[in-house]
Formats: sequence, structure tokens, C-alpha cells
Amino acid sequence: MEITVSRKAHFNAAHRLHVKQWDEEKNKQFFGLCNNPNYHGHNYDLIASVTGEIDPVTGYLIDTKWLSNLIKKEIEDRFDHKNLNLDCEEFVDLNPTTENIAIVIWKLLKQQLPQNLHLKITLYETERNYVEFSGK
Ligand code: NI
Repeated sequence: MEITVSRKAHFNAAHRLHVKQWDEEKNKQFFGLCNNPNYHGHNYDLIASVTGEIDPVTGYLIDTKWLSNLIKKEIEDRFDHKNLNLDCEEFVDLNPTTENIAIVIWKLLKQQLPQNLHLKITLYETERNYVEFSGK
């Protein structure tokens, strides 16, 4: 019997979407406002959903305090109020699209979680645009 526990988190970050191999004009055409050379910010909303079997003794799937500390340490402390392109080594050679940010977050959290737990990341770049990644 599997159950899912989710934790919401939030961070603000700046980015610029840009493909290094393309010239300025092609980048501008493709990414539009998100290609602004002087960067721009988003208020990212994150949902980390953990799925697995409940511990029959404690009744917990996961301690949500532990999960919230993990998200703070691995994600919020790393990305909040940062320029993803300039401040974060994860995006030196990786375009900081919502897709790529979600995958980076998934990897950072997954490696700290107990092996038997499944992780899904939902990352909102705006209220209406979001990405889901569960490791496949
Ligand atoms: Ni953007």
C-alpha cells in the first residue's frame, strides 16, 4: 500500500535563457523576454512529493520536518535570491529552464532520500506554467 507525502517550498531566483551555440538574434527570437541579457526573476514554487510504504510502527512515510530541512538545505539555501546562471555551478553549462531546474532539484533531493522512496518534483515558474519530473 503506497502513499504520497508532499512538501511545498519557495524560492526567488534570476535567470537568463540562452543557448551559447546560437547567435544573439536567434536566442532573442526563440526565448523572447527570457533571453534578456540583464536577467529577470521568477518566484518559483516547488512541491516535492515522496511516495512509498508507511512505516507500520510510526505511521510515517517520512518525517515532514526532516523533509522540510532537506529542501531548505539543498534547494532554498542553494538557489534562493541567486542568479542561477552566474551564482550556481549547476547551470554553468545548463540552460536554467524550468525543465532543467526541476531535474537538478530532483537529483539533489533524491540522493539524500532513503532509497526505497520515490520522488516527484513539481516546479512552478509562474502560476500557470509548471513542470513535473519523477526521474524517468
Ligand atoms: Ni524566465
